[in-house]
Amino acid sequence: MQSLQEQIKAHEEEIKSFNPASAAELEAYRIKYLGTKGIVKEIFGGMKHVPVEQKKEAGQLLNAFKQLAEGQYEAFKHLQDGDGKKDAGLDITLPGKPLPLGTRHPLRMVENQIVSIFEKIGFSVATGPEIEDDWHNFTSLNMPEHHPARDMQDTFYVSQNPDWVLRTHTSSVQARIMEQGNLPIRVICPGRVYRNETISARAHCFFHQCEGLYIDKNVSFADLKQTLYYFVTEMFGADTKVRFRPSYFPFTEPSAEMDISCTVCGGKGCSLCKHTGWVEILGCGMVHPNMLRNFNIDPEVYTGFAFGMGVERITQIKYQVNDLRLYSQNDVRFLKQFQSI
Ligand code: PHE
Repeated sequence: MQSLQEQIKAHEEEIKSFNPASAAELEAYRIKYLGTKGIVKEIFGGMKHVPVEQKKEAGQLLNAFKQLAEGQYEAFKHLQDGDGKKDAGLDITLPGKPLPLGTRHPLRMVENQIVSIFEKIGFSVATGPEIEDDWHNFTSLNMPEHHPARDMQDTFYVSQNPDWVLRTHTSSVQARIMEQGNLPIRVICPGRVYRNETISARAHCFFHQCEGLYIDKNVSFADLKQTLYYFVTEMFGADTKVRFRPSYFPFTEPSAEMDISCTVCGGKGCSLCKHTGWVEILGCGMVHPNMLRNFNIDPEVYTGFAFGMGVERITQIKYQVNDLRLYSQNDVRFLKQFQSI
């Protein structure tokens, strides 16, 4: 028993500090300790001389020693390849594994396209908070409390403070810009907006908008039409036609909705345009005098136009994405398809 302990002690140190650099060193270790004529076997052989009453204790000692020796061998086994002989090594001349690169999200790409088209004609980008107060999201935009137009936008209210809403449109940013009082104003406001709608292929509880506002002396409806016509030809091509239909928004008067000729069928009729040849892309109009007055801008001196479009809608028309949910499901098979646009 005494000699067993001594023998174990004599090898323990070396085993613990074993740190091979190659498969060959590891193999030499295996033969020395774990081979058929190795040290572990040899010490185990000494068991027969241990008196019966000490056998149990000696067995435990030996097993622990064996586990230590085997454990070290296992820890460095990666130095060997499958057949346990050759050095796997590291071949630095082999080509590396390519790292998959991410891409911009399609909505961000389209938003960037929209913004840069307007930047070319002097609009600058303005942003604002997604949690808004009632004044900037509704009241200042000529939508006082109980105004029926509030129902057009199913709103998420923050329950602890009903004065706070998740903004339902980026018109709230326009309100914040007008509030600053620096005229003239020429801004484009991209951002995420929220509406309390049931999620389906055609609706989501959040989406993205780009809204524009232009206020100066002598701004007319003709300027609005020309600006939006320029946008459409840049975005969808020079052959695209536009048409304006009268509409209603509380913050613009007159108001209109703008359609473009269907980019898929060229106006002949298909499922995208529901066989009408036209697809609706945005709402617009001349800024309501009440709204100008809310921000101390004299409607007798200044006029302006505003417009708002959904980024998902523009992307859908441009790239024929027919299910809104795809944008937020993070499926790389979908997202990858926009790598090169
Ligand atoms: N804010 C409107 C909406 O979200 C869009 C719009 C903006 C319409 C500006 C007219 C003028 O539906």
